[in-house]
Amino acid sequence: MTEPELPDTGFHRLRITRVVAETPDACSLELAVPDDLVEKFHHRPGQFLTLRIPSERTGSVGRCYSLCSAPHEAGPLKVAVKRVRDGYGSNWLCDNAAEGMVLEVLPPAGVFTPKSLDTDLLLLAGGSGITPIMSILKSVLATGTGSITLLYANRDEHSVIFADELAKLAKEHPDRLTVVHWLESVQGLPSVPQLAALTAPWAGRETFICGPGEFMDAASDALSTLGVDRKQVHIERFISLSRNPFEVEDTVDAATDGTPEADSPTRLDVELDGERHSFAWPRNRKLLDFLLEQGLDAPYSCREGACSACACYVTAGEVKMLHNEVLEPVDLDEGIVLACQSVPVTDDVSVSYE
Ligand code: FES
Repeated sequence: MTEPELPDTGFHRLRITRVVAETPDACSLELAVPDDLVEKFHHRPGQFLTLRIPSERTGSVGRCYSLCSAPHEAGPLKVAVKRVRDGYGSNWLCDNAAEGMVLEVLPPAGVFTPKSLDTDLLLLAGGSGITPIMSILKSVLATGTGSITLLYANRDEHSVIFADELAKLAKEHPDRLTVVHWLESVQGLPSVPQLAALTAPWAGRETFICGPGEFMDAASDALSTLGVDRKQVHIERFISLSRNPFEVEDTVDAATDGTPEADSPTRLDVELDGERHSFAWPRNRKLLDFLLEQGLDAPYSCREGACSACACYVTAGEVKMLHNEVLEPVDLDEGIVLACQSVPVTDDVSVSYE
């Protein structure tokens, strides 16, 4: 296959070392990371990779897949892919991915990750939503001291990804890991009251939810009925990128939605990759677009406020996000913003990617 010459937009070429059929409609891909990229591809539990999938129609499309490997595990990075009906990326990977194939990949990103591995967690997964949950779960058990309760919902017993691995972990950590399976074939779709009853004993723990939209909405509503503070709950929404993150696009002026275009730009301090930079930031430019124009290697994936790959901390001053589909109240509380959607509000702003 002849692939188009791609500009340097932050992707790296990783070779698939193994494809594992996890269930009839899901596979996992193991990707080897060359020595010189180990630091760049170091990840936190719960983060995702953006893969470039070849497309005859558009050249390529970008798709985000959560890592199920845990940072402490030696060896390749691993993502799990479940076929989505009419989903181009997942079906292409399940049909074509093979050992030896080289994929173009953006470094790990995302904020669906626990701050501490020493606190007790409640994890709620539906279907392939187990992928980032698995990374968090393995990390806590291997390198932290927290206890885990996992509620894992699936269509039927044949669609339970990582069933054997979970059974093994539960056996190895009987005091720290409780796994509760829910099978739609046996019990029907879990309702809000049923999820509330199941999770009540662990309500109040920091909670991570990932799965199909309906499952996440029901789980989130269940926790609300139990009085759980929304700031305790992290939700990872699957997204399909509508633009190709590997294309270099002309940056577009931000629609500032009423933000006045002041004569004087904002003074901007940026901490990225261990270095500090200072700029005069025009008030009508989105932060990510501006940093890329300045030649900084700022991370990003979707550039549309839907993935959190561009997340950074505002450590001083204030910005305004024009669009946000992914950050939760718990993230905003920590000062996290999406650089691809942020325009300045105050005269001085400091941001950090550390
Ligand atoms: S790059 Fe995806 S949210 Fe900013």
